[in-house]
Amino acid sequence: MNQLFRKKSMSLMIAQTKSKSLARSINVMDLIFLGVGCVIGTGIFVVTGVVAANNAGPAIMISFVIAGIACALAAFCYAEFSSSVPLSGSVYTYTYATLGELLAFLIGWDLMLEYVLAVSAVATGWSAYFQSLLAGFNIHIPSIIGSAPGMGKGGVIDLPAILIILFIAGLVSKGIKESIKFNNIMVFVKLAVILLFIIVGVWYVEPDNWSPFMPFGFEGIITGAATVFFAYIGFDVIATASEEVKNPSKTMPIGIIGSLAICTLLYIAVSAVITGMIPFTKLNVGAPVALALESVGQDSVAGIISVGAVMGITTVILALIYAQVRLSFAMSRDGLLPKVLANVNQKTKTPFANTWLTGIVAACIAGFIDLTTLAHLVNMGTLAAFTLISIAVIILRRNFPELKGSFRVPFVPVLPIISALLCICLAISLPRITWFSFVIWIIIGLFIYFFYSKKHSNLNN
Ligand code: ALA
Repeated sequence: MNQLFRKKSMSLMIAQTKSKSLARSINVMDLIFLGVGCVIGTGIFVVTGVVAANNAGPAIMISFVIAGIACALAAFCYAEFSSSVPLSGSVYTYTYATLGELLAFLIGWDLMLEYVLAVSAVATGWSAYFQSLLAGFNIHIPSIIGSAPGMGKGGVIDLPAILIILFIAGLVSKGIKESIKFNNIMVFVKLAVILLFIIVGVWYVEPDNWSPFMPFGFEGIITGAATVFFAYIGFDVIATASEEVKNPSKTMPIGIIGSLAICTLLYIAVSAVITGMIPFTKLNVGAPVALALESVGQDSVAGIISVGAVMGITTVILALIYAQVRLSFAMSRDGLLPKVLANVNQKTKTPFANTWLTGIVAACIAGFIDLTTLAHLVNMGTLAAFTLISIAVIILRRNFPELKGSFRVPFVPVLPIISALLCICLAISLPRITWFSFVIWIIIGLFIYFFYSKKHSNLNN
């Protein structure tokens, strides 16, 4: 029993990662850019349309607010963890040091589900905008190879989604990193096209389209929030940067709230404009933002936005592949997953096999599973991780009072409890099939832990 809660000692971790202490060079603006860069992608460009049409109607604006609040609360908990445990790493690392091996493994396993499926889901959105862009040049990819089954377009396989994932996995496996400079350019492009959409689209808003405002009732708004939650995924990356942030106790909360506030405002504005431009019932398409503009005759603006979306979404795929590789690399180095995942290629100096494995698995999933199913599963995994991390902060405070980080969640335990409850409430409104798949994933994880990881863990030595 004790084995399940054995912890990795801080000194061991520091020695093992051989991490030099990182320079504190990130300021508030960098942090906000980092957040916005990892967050804005398929969620706003694609999922908005699906949710407006099927779940929330024009009240999707409220769904975005609710999902944004859930994320902000969880982000505080992430930030406290990352500033208290003096290691660079993910929630997996922090849990391993404080709550023990079994929980750490489960969080890691859960996050792997989130990241791999998020890569697939985001690539599906990329494919939709890429095809909308090609259509502007009168190039049409045959529908049979243009989307996954179940998207109502007669597709059998989403070939563009598969190819973009393999292409980016190839780049990552060669050691090409997303630099801060590249990220900043992409953030600029994304913000520019979103603002362009709002500025052009607002003139075509017909307030009649907003009525009925809540066609699916309050329940629809909550289901909508559980789905558009996807649009915020990725911001946890900012919370893990706390070690490199200047004056973290001030910078972290401003950075987190700032980037979430910017995204929330943009999301509300985009959803207000899009549902005002065309009846929400027509938005169940792959590229709703482009469709809304085309429907009012603004084809060239639609083209510009498709280019921006394709470029912007690409960086999200890159960031997510990185996150997945880093996580499985760490778990494998600890002995909890097969060693091959931590092998570093001599030539490229990157976890070559791991990156390709991630790319191939994500590509296969993206080819055959539709976006909504994927987004629900990604959200389920993330909400589970957020719930655990919220509870973990309370335990951290009680059991490790000596670990006083530079950032502390206010009103503990009230705020973490509200955070956990809100996440559970959103997760409950996800479809039953999502829960079923999630439970199966966790059961597989438990099997792996008890039959493999526990025996091979480095802590046995
Ligand atoms: N938040 C990311 C996106 O919307 C996953 O693409």
